[in-house]
Amino acid sequence: MSKVLLVTGAAGFIGANFVLYWMEKYPEDKVIALDALTYAGNRANLAAVEDNTNFTFAHVNILDEPVIEALLKDHNVDTIVHFAAESHVDRSITEPDAFLETNIIGTHSLLKAARQVWIEKGLHPSDHRFHHVSTDEVYGTLSPTDPAFSETTPYAPNSPYAASKAASDHLVRSYHHTYGLQVSTSNCSNNYGPYHFPEKLIPLVITNILFNKALPIYGDGQQIRDWLYVEDHARGIDLVLEKGVVGETYNIGGINEWANIDIVKLICKLVDEYFANETELVQRFAKATAAIAGQSESLITYVKDRPGHDRRYAIDPTKANDILGYQPQESFETGIRKTIAWYLNNEQWWQAVMDGSYQDWVSKQYGQS
Ligand code: NAD
Ligand code: DAU
Repeated sequence: MSKVLLVTGAAGFIGANFVLYWMEKYPEDKVIALDALTYAGNRANLAAVEDNTNFTFAHVNILDEPVIEALLKDHNVDTIVHFAAESHVDRSITEPDAFLETNIIGTHSLLKAARQVWIEKGLHPSDHRFHHVSTDEVYGTLSPTDPAFSETTPYAPNSPYAASKAASDHLVRSYHHTYGLQVSTSNCSNNYGPYHFPEKLIPLVITNILFNKALPIYGDGQQIRDWLYVEDHARGIDLVLEKGVVGETYNIGGINEWANIDIVKLICKLVDEYFANETELVQRFAKATAAIAGQSESLITYVKDRPGHDRRYAIDPTKANDILGYQPQESFETGIRKTIAWYLNNEQWWQAVMDGSYQDWVSKQYGQS
């Protein structure tokens, strides 16, 4: 049976990739793409589906509970997939308030609206789903020899961002146990791919190489992250919606741990290769003199560490593998090449998102524009 989805944070990195994935795979479903269009939200990410008659964009803040209730009723929504969040750890360290507002109060506002419309007003008393998209950061940090995070690892969030996501996970859980809301939660590892905002490590490194700017490595660069191609995250959420048990949580990841310095060196090598093989790049990105010379690595610069920087994240995806049959489809080798190619081919996209308030943030963070 076809669904009506409300996707929050739909103009952000993962939300947009999810909407594009979903509308291609389930063309009969209706999608209401909701987003407040903060600095991280970009309606252009959804351009490919804007003209689809099953697509509606709602420029709405998740804090606006009456408007969310009206949307749920008016569109007869039966499924919420909740991505909307403040998502950048560095920003949560310098300006935490927005993280508490959106990630905690905003998630609660959505939960209240869903409960009100689906359960209290009886629109979909049992055949509804509230899927909450969360992160591995709620589990804290691992030593090099610790086992990867499983669904039973105790929560130990270390940044204001992680703490706000942990709080939202607990609220979602409580609405199931207390009010019977049909919820599920997925905790995913670091995503990468198209439409990734260039304040995050992978797109920052790619775009900085193209401007011939320093590639900032926090601390010793030996921190480890577990990278998953964004479409494989969308696929995981799809499976949780299809086969996941209500009230349960699922860790999504692809067993792909990399030290930051190694991933940055790999990107440098691959960008240099693209420049060596595609001569038109030399004209298009004339500023990228290090890449043109095959020496992007020379841009690597060690900078002050992130306060409270988590040393290692790693997801144990056994539960999702065994119960949902989840397996990522993209290898890192192909995914990172695809991603670099996407940034090389979509200069207009990243130039546009780098304008405006993002520049103020870069100046504050690095003292450069
Ligand atoms: P993003 O910052 O790229 O996008 C967030 C989107 O939410 C933006 O479009 C923004 O405009 C919107 N938004 C922010 N506040 C809002 C509000 N109050 N009301 C409505 N919309 C609002 O983030 P992302 O990387 O796409 O992450 C999406 C979700 O996935 C987040 O919940 C994040 O915690 C989670 N997650 C991210 C990763 C990752 O590697 N990026 C990994 C695991 C989980
Ligand atoms: O693990 C999932 C999380 O991954 C998500 O919940 C977050 O929303 C998402 O932003 C991401 O958080 P990280 O802090 O891991 O991602 P970020 O890209 O900011 O940084 C990745 C690693 O690279 C981290 O160890 C910090 C480091 N780093 C980052 C930047 C931006 C640098 O060394 N230099 C940089 O300039």
